[in-house]
Amino acid sequence: MYKFTVLGLLLAVVCVITGEYVCNGDSHLGNCSKSDLEALFDFKNGLNDPENRLSSWQGSGCCQWHGIGCNNSTGAVIMIDLHNPYPITSESSSSKYGFWNLSGDISPSLPKLKSLEHLDLSLNTFNDISIPKFLGSLKNLRYLNLSKAGFSGLIPASLGNISSLQFLDVSTEFASLSSDSLQWVAGLVSLKHLAMNEVDLSMIDSGFLGIMNRLSFLNELYLSGCQLSGSILSLNSVNVTSLSVLDLSFNSFGPGFPV
Ligand SMILES: *[C@@H]1O[C@H](CO)[C@@H](O)[C@H](O)[C@H]1NC(C)=O
Ligand SMILES: *[C@@H]1O[C@H](CO)[C@@H](O)[C@H](O)[C@H]1NC(C)=O
Ligand SMILES: *[C@@H]1O[C@H](CO)[C@@H](O)[C@H](O)[C@H]1NC(C)=O
Ligand SMILES: *[C@@H]1O[C@H](CO)[C@@H](O)[C@H](O)[C@H]1NC(C)=O
Ligand SMILES: *[C@@H]1O[C@H](CO)[C@@H](O)[C@H](O)[C@H]1NC(C)=O
Ligand SMILES: *[C@@H]1O[C@H](CO)[C@@H](O)[C@H](O)[C@H]1NC(C)=O
Ligand SMILES: *[C@@H]1O[C@H](CO)[C@@H](O)[C@H](O)[C@H]1NC(C)=O
Repeated sequence: MYKFTVLGLLLAVVCVITGEYVCNGDSHLGNCSKSDLEALFDFKNGLNDPENRLSSWQGSGCCQWHGIGCNNSTGAVIMIDLHNPYPITSESSSSKYGFWNLSGDISPSLPKLKSLEHLDLSLNTFNDISIPKFLGSLKNLRYLNLSKAGFSGLIPASLGNISSLQFLDVSTEFASLSSDSLQWVAGLVSLKHLAMNEVDLSMIDSGFLGIMNRLSFLNELYLSGCQLSGSILSLNSVNVTSLSVLDLSFNSFGPGFPV
């Protein structure tokens, strides 16, 4: 018993040292399908990665690559998690932070990852490119996090095609992203968590709360700092019974705002 624990601890230490290479399952699970592999190489080639975060992205064992997760039984790529764990924050301007950021372009090959369920690119520095429309064809996505990743412009309505999506975070900074209608959100029928903090929603109409009402699994809704104004909200129309968190802070509702 004790020996196993020590062994487990040793393995964990080895995992940390080797960058998880030996820890993501049996080696026979390492190879992914040729089409997934090609899609990932295309994706890598579009990225600007000066810190070599993606140095493990070579060879054919893509299930072992940093940030990649596969279905253990099929070998299909189901997860890409390349969020930046060392973002620049207002508290830390030291060079220790912000050194792991990726930028560049998102390859249109990405939707070839047919089984992808989880995509996290948060806290990177995609310099003012727009959120690609083709992300809307990742039909199996359940989790999409593009929070503070440097995207700008209109959020593409095509995201509303991802009917399996449960978590969507497109929070931004300085209103870099905007949306002129939230009609597309109506297509996200599985949605449990929607975060659009600081997205410029000053142009949306009052229909958007009706849309939220129809999302029967919606549990958390974050619309902080979205430039929503009192006039567009008749909040007595909020009847989302599934909702347990509603964050509307830092908007400019009038004094008559019903709570
Ligand atoms: C896949 O296998 C690895 C190693 O055996 C395990 O840690 C992980 O939890 C498994 N993942 C799933 C989704 O079953
Ligand atoms: C993985 O792919 C490499 C290169 O194509 C091949 O040499 C190796 O035998 C494969 N491994 C398994 C377990 O299929
Ligand atoms: C792996 O894929 C199989 C076949 O598609 C599926 O039944 C299973 O639920 C998947 N496992 C996970 C952990 O996603
Ligand atoms: C990472 O962020 C810093 C600070 O914003 C920026 O100067 C640098 O160009 C970024 N690196 C990449 C690869 O985008
Ligand atoms: C998205 O990523 C950010 C930064 O990594 C994190 O703080 C946030 O909780 C994530 N959102 C969701 C819905 O998981
Ligand atoms: C995806 O969404 C866009 C915009 O809402 C729509 O025009 C397009 O037909 C949709 N595509 C698919 C495959 O559903
Ligand atoms: C909640 O809102 C939906 C959509 O706007 C509406 O169809 C339904 O009747 C409302 N339910 C209640 C209890 O007000």
